[in-house]
Amino acid sequence: MLKKRIEEALNEQINKEMYSAYLYLSMSAHSTHIGLKGFANWFMVQYKEEVTHAMKLYEYIHDQDGQVKLTNIEQPPTEFASPLDMFEKTLKHEEFVTKSINDLVDLAIKENDHATQIFLQWFVTEQIEEEANDKEIISKLKLVGEKGSGLFMIDRELVARKE
Ligand code: FEO
Repeated sequence: MLKKRIEEALNEQINKEMYSAYLYLSMSAHSTHIGLKGFANWFMVQYKEEVTHAMKLYEYIHDQDGQVKLTNIEQPPTEFASPLDMFEKTLKHEEFVTKSINDLVDLAIKENDHATQIFLQWFVTEQIEEEANDKEIISKLKLVGEKGSGLFMIDRELVARKE
């Protein structure tokens, strides 16, 4: 059985994960629009991954006899200045999600909810990986610059992402 405050915070996290999905789907659409298939693929895979994050929370709430309450998903931006801009916005957003997960862990500790603390450990680890991936791509984009063959080289690399 979940405490009300925990249930509410987990439901808010579902919304944040769904917004993440929506944001990356928008970046995928933009990448397709400007002809960068690799970037479009990377963000499409990320979109799907975010939906699985939301579903992990959804299933956990049900497993703990809680009530899932879905709310409006905010509109994501639809225009981006460049591929670097998309990845800088991605990193900034993931830092926000990391803080949100950490706040949730703090709340679970405060409420003596051991099950939720353990459940959230997966997300804590996942956030480390997500931020690291974003930083790696940002470094590459800065290194090669955003035009010409360097950008297409990165695009070719990102087309290989499957999960
Ligand atoms: Fe689900 Fe990208 O955090």
